[in-house]
Amino acid sequence: MKRLEKDRVYFGIIGCGAIANIHAKAIKSIETAELVAVADVNLDSARNFAQRYQVERYYGDYRELLKDESIDIVNICTPSGLREEIAIDCARAGKHIIAEKPIEVTLERIDRMIEECKKNNVALAGIFNNRYNRNYKIVYETIQKGRFGKLILGDVYVKWYRDKEYYTRSGWRGTWKFDGGGALMNQSIHFIDLLQWYMGPVESVKAYTTQAVHKYIETEDIGVAIVKFKNGALGVIEGSTALYPGLHDRIEIHGENGCVLIENSRIVRWEFKDKEPIDEEIRRSKGLETFELGSSKDPMEIPYELHKREIEDIISSLKEGKTPPIDGNEARKAVEIIIAIYEANRTGQEVKLPL
Ligand SMILES: NC(=O)c1ccc[n+]([C@@H]2O[C@H](COP(=O)([O-])OP(=O)(O)OC[C@H]3O[C@@H](n4cnc5c(N)ncnc54)[C@H](O)[C@@H]3O)[C@@H](O)[C@H]2O)c1
Repeated sequence: MKRLEKDRVYFGIIGCGAIANIHAKAIKSIETAELVAVADVNLDSARNFAQRYQVERYYGDYRELLKDESIDIVNICTPSGLREEIAIDCARAGKHIIAEKPIEVTLERIDRMIEECKKNNVALAGIFNNRYNRNYKIVYETIQKGRFGKLILGDVYVKWYRDKEYYTRSGWRGTWKFDGGGALMNQSIHFIDLLQWYMGPVESVKAYTTQAVHKYIETEDIGVAIVKFKNGALGVIEGSTALYPGLHDRIEIHGENGCVLIENSRIVRWEFKDKEPIDEEIRRSKGLETFELGSSKDPMEIPYELHKREIEDIISSLKEGKTPPIDGNEARKAVEIIIAIYEANRTGQEVKLPL
């Protein structure tokens, strides 16, 4: 993979909607990074965005941005199902890529992106900002250290609410083609990614999905799955955008020697048979992170700090000529689980992975 040799790293953003603001703030907060160009199919959006963040150049066609030789990394912040073509063009233009979640909406599209990036020696990184929350990270590290013992049960509950306006003000949310699904593919994917990060690969799923409240969308607003992990553990995934007023999301991990419960990104239970000095600190402060994260109501109530940490991590990897920690294959895993859940609902059968 092409190594990033420069001290200063130049960024371009494609898609200047809601999440692009978080990317712009994150890039601008990194001392060695500079946002030099943005593009959006809607030229007014690109212009307003460029003004808001004092970006020199803006375009109505992303291909113009790709001609800019100074740009090292392109952040693709378009609707989820519109990333493949853009990513392939970025790779062919020799740009490293940071793609929002889900990296794309079908495995075939993701595989073509991975292949094209490999062919052109550029990196493909997927955003999973929650993995950079220290509260979620310490759970991962503690699992890796073996403190939980054998993992036996892992659950995520994402009982969120989105109103009608959330779906109707954009032409793409809740569509198969551009969102790739509903509550699972758009919202719960963050937690499904954490679950598989903690528990390891999924062996099979049984699932139901339904449209309980948002009848005008194409996709599910509730999904429920029973998961069997390769290590023998079981688990449950519940994801929704139909549950007024929206509850705090929860992750519950149980091993034979202890358990952790995380609610709204705060650690609310941290119990182990053996005791360590850090336990009291984690219990007292509900984790290691000091700011509130995530929201079950407002999709944009997220801090840019986690994106900043991931982008910094990507820059460090590229400077060492290494693949970013969440590369195309890693970002693909949660999408594969969600597609398996859709398949299990459609067929009424247990679906085995890999697909
Ligand atoms: N990591 C997170 O926490 C998080 C949060 C919100 C959204 N997202 C993801 O970010 C992506 C965008 O979501 P959003 O809420 O910002 O959507 P949005 O609708 O607010 O913005 C999308 C933008 O892309 C532009 N666009 C569409 N097609 C384009 C093209 N071909 N070329 C250039 N621009 C194009 C649109 O005009 C729009 O401005 C989605 O994939 C979503 O899942 C991630």
